[in-house]
Formats: sequence, C-alpha cells, structure tokens
Amino acid sequence: MNFKKYMSFRAIAITFFSCLCFNVSVTAQTKSAQDLYQRSLAATCANCHGTDGKGQENASMPKIDQLTSEQLLTQLKAFKSGARTGTIMPQLAKGYTDEQMQTIADYLGKKQ
Ligand code: HEC
Repeated sequence: MNFKKYMSFRAIAITFFSCLCFNVSVTAQTKSAQDLYQRSLAATCANCHGTDGKGQENASMPKIDQLTSEQLLTQLKAFKSGARTGTIMPQLAKGYTDEQMQTIADYLGKKQ
C-alpha cells in the first residue's frame, strides 16, 4: 500500500470508528435517561408503599410488590376512573397520564 492509499484508508477507518463510538454513547445515554424517568416515576409511590413497593415496617399501606404489571395497571386505571374507591389512590391516580401509569406498572410490576 502506498502512502496516499494508506492515508485515505486511515481516514475512512477513523471516521468509521468514531461514528461507532458516538452511536454507542448516544444509545447508552438514551437508555439511562429512560431508566431514570422510570425510576423517578416509580419513586413517587415509595413514600407510602415502600421502595419498589415492598411495603414499610408497621405501615398500614398495602404492599404492592406481589402484583404483576397488568394487575397494577388495572388497579391504577380503576382508581383513576372511580371504579375502585379508596382514601388516597383515586385522587392520586388522577394525577398520572395513561402513559405514565403504564411506565410505572411496567417498572414496579412483579417479574415472573
Ligand atoms: C400518600 C400515600 C400513597 C402513595 C404516594 C401511593 N399510594 Fe397506592 N395506596 C395507598 C393507600 C392508602 C391504598 C389503599 C387504597 C386507598 O385507600 O386509597 C393504596 C392502594 C394501592 C393499590 C392497590 C393495592 C391492592 O392490594 O389492591 C395499588 C396497586 C397502588 N396503591 C399503587 C400505587 C402506585 C403505583 C403509586 C405510585 C404512582 C401509589 N400507589 C402511590 C397510598 C398511597
């Protein structure tokens, strides 16, 4: 390979690898931003239901870590629509969009 060919090959290789690295870091950032969004939404439930819905010592709030994502979403929707009554949850559920409730249910739901 002569010098000119070597230089153009080198330029192509550098461009290729920097694009690759850029893509990897953008994907990683997007993934962690999404993860942070999910965790932040789920954290709004932790005051009463404990971290990850595991409940709190001597608290009268129900534990919700045994519910699947589907069961969680069904209950949240029922609270929001008024189909299920309660002291706190009906009011609280009205503050979340359907998309947010889906995100919370996906995150907190029991993984089989
Ligand atoms: C201020 C306290 C409080 C917060 C915050 C809270 N909850 Fe609740 N949750 C309750 C109470 C109290 C009940 C029992 C029903 C009622 O009286 O509203 C309940 C019931 C539930 C139930 C029904 C459990 C069952 O066994 O059927 C689910 C599901 C639930 N909450 C999910 C959530 C999710 C998801 C969040 C976060 C978006 C959340 N809760 C935030 C207090 C809270």
